[in-house]
Amino acid sequence: MHSIQVLAIAGSLRRNSYNRRLIEAAARVAPAHMQVHVYADLAHVPLFDEDVEHATPGGPEGVRRLRGAIAGADGVLIATPEYNQSLPGVLKNTIDWLSRPAPQEVLLRKPIAVLGASPGRWGTRLAQAALRQVLAATESLVMPAPMLFVRDAAQQFDADGNLHDRATLESLRALLSAFARWIEQASAVAHLEARP
Ligand code: FNR
Repeated sequence: MHSIQVLAIAGSLRRNSYNRRLIEAAARVAPAHMQVHVYADLAHVPLFDEDVEHATPGGPEGVRRLRGAIAGADGVLIATPEYNQSLPGVLKNTIDWLSRPAPQEVLLRKPIAVLGASPGRWGTRLAQAALRQVLAATESLVMPAPMLFVRDAAQQFDADGNLHDRATLESLRALLSAFARWIEQASAVAHLEARP
């Protein structure tokens, strides 16, 4: 079977980000036929500015690199923190760049899975809802379920930052298996549509 390539993005620049730890855990527990690559360069995406966009065809280097990584992936896994009951500006800013039609609408029909971790009680419920609303504008294919809200994050990761909560690990495995099926279905539909 063809190995499914997933690019994983955490919407946090924090060194010890729970959301980055969550996608690192995803890379460890992904199904055998899925490879999860953690994107480490989000800090190089500048603040969106239409003047800069027009002045640099192809976009700034940090955006070009991310677009290339997404274009080469079968699907994108996004772990969002929750800031003020929404997604962080860093992540919204990144999606604003990626949503632009030129040079390539990389999110169009791209399978996406959403998850998130927070030290609070609600585990990024509102941030994930906001992220789904933003992604709807990109016409990406956001997997509706299962959802994963990792709450009380400080208790779920050990001192080395490894996700150790067994129930959460199980939910993460289930989400990734469902995402593999979601990506395969999207690819089957794309093949049907491409037939003369
Ligand atoms: C937060 N945090 C937070 N948490 C939450 O559950 N709901 C919220 O509305 C907010 N709001 C908020 C605003 C701002 C400006 C900050 C900096 C933080 C706490 C947040 O969940 C916590 O800092 C996480 O650890 C951020 O995710 P990473 O960086 O660990 O991935």
